[in-house]
Order: sequence, then C-alpha cells, then structure tokens
Amino acid sequence: TASPVVLGVESSCDETGFGIVSDGVLLGQGLASSAAQHADFGGVVPEIAARAHLEAVVPTLRIALDDAGVELSDISHVAVTSGPGLATAVHVGLAAAKSIAWSLGAPLYGVHHLAGHAAADTLEHGPLPERSIVLIVSGGHTSILAIGDLVRDPIEHLGDTLDDAAGEAFDKVARLLGLGYPGGPAISRAAVDGDPTAYSFPRAMLRPKDAPYTFSFSGLKTAVARTVETLERAGEPVPVADIAASFEQAVVDVLVTKSLRAVRERALDTLVIVGGVAANARLRAVAQEKCEAAGITLRIPPPRLCTDNGAMIAAVGDLLVRSGAEPSGLRIAADPSAVL
Ligand code: KG4
Ligand code: ZN
Repeated sequence: TASPVVLGVESSCDETGFGIVSDGVLLGQGLASSAAQHADFGGVVPEIAARAHLEAVVPTLRIALDDAGVELSDISHVAVTSGPGLATAVHVGLAAAKSIAWSLGAPLYGVHHLAGHAAADTLEHGPLPERSIVLIVSGGHTSILAIGDLVRDPIEHLGDTLDDAAGEAFDKVARLLGLGYPGGPAISRAAVDGDPTAYSFPRAMLRPKDAPYTFSFSGLKTAVARTVETLERAGEPVPVADIAASFEQAVVDVLVTKSLRAVRERALDTLVIVGGVAANARLRAVAQEKCEAAGITLRIPPPRLCTDNGAMIAAVGDLLVRSGAEPSGLRIAADPSAVL
C-alpha cells in the first residue's frame, strides 16, 4: 500500500500552520503569523488571532501544498491541534481540518500541541530513541518529560512551572524593557551586545530542598522589574542589553541544569529540547556545551521547527497513522486546557 500523506493543521496561538509529512519526512509547509498584530498589546489577543487564522487558512494551505509539490487530493490523512491553546484560535483550525477531512473522506486525528512540539524534532533527527528526556519550553509550558514511543507509551511528567512559563517570562520581561512582542526573539537580539554577568538575577528552585524538576520564573521577572524601577527612580539609564543578557542567562542556567539532572538521574543518554524558547541561541549554545561535557546527546530542532508550525502536527499524525491508531473522527471537539 502507498505511504500515508498526512496534512497537519496548527492554529492554537498566533501561528497558522500547515505541514505535510509522509513516512517521517517533511514534504513541505506553509506558515502565517499574526504576531505583528498583537505587538501593541504585549501579548496574543484571542479575537485578533482567530480572525487572522480565518483569513490565513486557505492561502497558507495553498503554500504548503505547493511547497510539498502535492495536490489536495493526494492527502490521505489529516491531523489537527485540538488543544491546549486559545479556544477561539483552536476552533478555526479544527473547522478547517474537519472540512478538508470530510471533503476528502480522509481520517482525522486530534493532536496534543505539546506532542507536536516533541515530534518536530523527529523531522530533523529521525525517530526518538527508546527513551529520552524532553524539555518543552514554550509560551504556555515549561515541562520536563520522560518520553518513550511518542504515540504509544504514557508520558511521564517530571516537573512543570509553578507560575510563568519560560516563554511567558521572556514576553513579560521584553514588555517591561520596552522591546515588544514576541519577547523571546526581541530579548535575544538585545542580549547579543550585553554582558550576561552584569546582573545576578535569581535562579529559582535550585536549592537541594527544592523540587528537582520544578521551575518558577515569576520571581525572576519581578527581580528584573525591580532593577529597572530602581534605575529609573535614580534617573539612571537602563542598560537594556546587559539586563536582557543577564535575564536570558538566568533562564538558560535553570533550564539546562534541571534537564541535565533529569537525564543523569534517569540514566538516559539523550536530551531533546523543543518549543518556541528552544529557538533561543544562548539556550542552544549552553545546552550543547553542557551536554557535550556530560556525554549526553542533545537534539534540538532547527529554530523554524521550534516555534509553532503545522509540520509538527503532521509529524504526530504520521506516527499515529503508522502505529495503527484509531482516528478521532469528525466530531472531535477543542480541548483548550488539554493535559499531556
Ligand atoms: O512554541 P511557541 O511558538 O508557542 C507556544 O506553544 O507557546 O512558543 C512561543 C514562545 C513565546 O513566548 C516566544 O517569546 C518564545 O517562544 N520564543 C523565544 C524565542 N523565539 C520564540 N524565546 C527565547 N528566544 C527565542 N529566540
Ligand atoms: Zn507551541
């Protein structure tokens, strides 16, 4: 029988993504973003995101089909993000995916957005090892997971964040430094010229008595805010580059320390880092250096597959199809607060 040709649809936040995957290979993708429309608000406005998805679905699907060199009729299966995400945004992708699946008579699979982030790496580096530690760092999540077969085995949650997600911390600190949304890339750009040791911002949850895999970033954000306030009150200039670099270094230190700890304590040999924050150059460099020193294999997808996209959803769909999983069917509902 012919290989499945799986269309993935992603619309959980401000990215409209379509990707086409066959036998673990990314054939092509299309991506549209409404990020610029949210810039003035310092974060994603759900109604604006939903409207932008509605405008983008057809042209972005067209781009993905052209990029892959396939016709819509070549699609054999459809996978779509059913959650977690902004309900109004998820609904648009679900409606589009249902329409496509129904008109093609193709089976439809609901995909967890975070499983998508993890699967993104397989498009670059091939199947995941039998077991690995996965650090998911995005705008909504910061989790350390122990993962086996992505679609068959239960996922083990080692730890999450108590408050802000890492990406959320980047976005909030960018806002208070006047750098705009999305904050991650903005902080990263500002930090290039900064001294990461200029300010010693707190590294939370790293004491021996703290939960080993639990994160907290709200204290860090508050520490940056206090630093900026103090400088402004004293009428001194705010060294944005130094603050951005020092903040970024604090986040990276905690993420890398805890992830490597999980790999070591589970006696595994592979760390996978995924999600929007995995696009961060300092995180990639520090993780690479620390993993090399510890003899740990580090897998991070290229930046364009770290941030939200449709290819990662197609990658999960492709794994589901090939594992013989039951389709979700056309009645699938959005699950905005889905847990993995
Ligand atoms: O995975 P993602 O695209 O969407 C969610 O599922 O949340 O992640 C978006 C988050 C945002 O908070 C954004 O600021 C952050 O990822 N981000 C970055 C970088 N690029 C995106 N954070 C740090 N450095 C980056 N280069
Ligand atoms: Zn995401």
